[in-house]
Amino acid sequence: MNFYEAREDSFLLQKQIKNYAKGFILDMGTGSGIQAEEAAKFSDKVLAVDINEKAIKHCEKKLPRIEFRQSNLFSNITENFDLIVFNPPYLPNEPRAPDIALDGGKEGYELIGAFLKQAKEHLNEDGTILLLFSSFSKKEKIINILKEENYKYKEIAREHIEFEDLYVYEIKWTKNS
Ligand SMILES: C[S@@+](CC[C@H](N)C(=O)[O-])C[C@H]1O[C@@H](n2cnc3c(N)ncnc32)[C@H](O)[C@@H]1O
Repeated sequence: MNFYEAREDSFLLQKQIKNYAKGFILDMGTGSGIQAEEAAKFSDKVLAVDINEKAIKHCEKKLPRIEFRQSNLFSNITENFDLIVFNPPYLPNEPRAPDIALDGGKEGYELIGAFLKQAKEHLNEDGTILLLFSSFSKKEKIINILKEENYKYKEIAREHIEFEDLYVYEIKWTKNS
């Protein structure tokens, strides 16, 4: 398969979308398009991006009513959003089996950090980020970045699967906080 097929992490994030979907929604790292498809049930303005061109091609065929675009994080995005959802690559990098859908950086949180630094510039007033990560992603480092970048955050879902815990965080940013 040329893109990430939906699994437990995808389903846990997907379940949260109905409670947050409004306005213009961005699905970052769309993979199979699962989060974009769910978001499109509640909003007719959904943009979904992925660094992987094969994922974009697949999604464009499968979900022709949604806009898909290739982008490395926000490199190809100028718009602002009311909701941004991201099920990122969140595992520490495995040089023997590189996989762009799983490789979150040397310690697993680096791509999430880069995302959080950029994402606030693309949030509308009162916008929300829904971010999934795992007990393998160095939670304390992510919390530190959230604090440094002046985000407000809370855990809204958690699931234990095999050897890891999965978390979904609701994240907000206010310009003058
Ligand atoms: C864990 S998969 C999640 C896929 C899908 N959203 C889901 O929930 O099943 C992570 C996705 O992020 C994409 N990705 C990795 N690095 C990226 C980057 N720098 N910018 C945009 N997307 C990226 C991968 O290609 C992959 O599709």
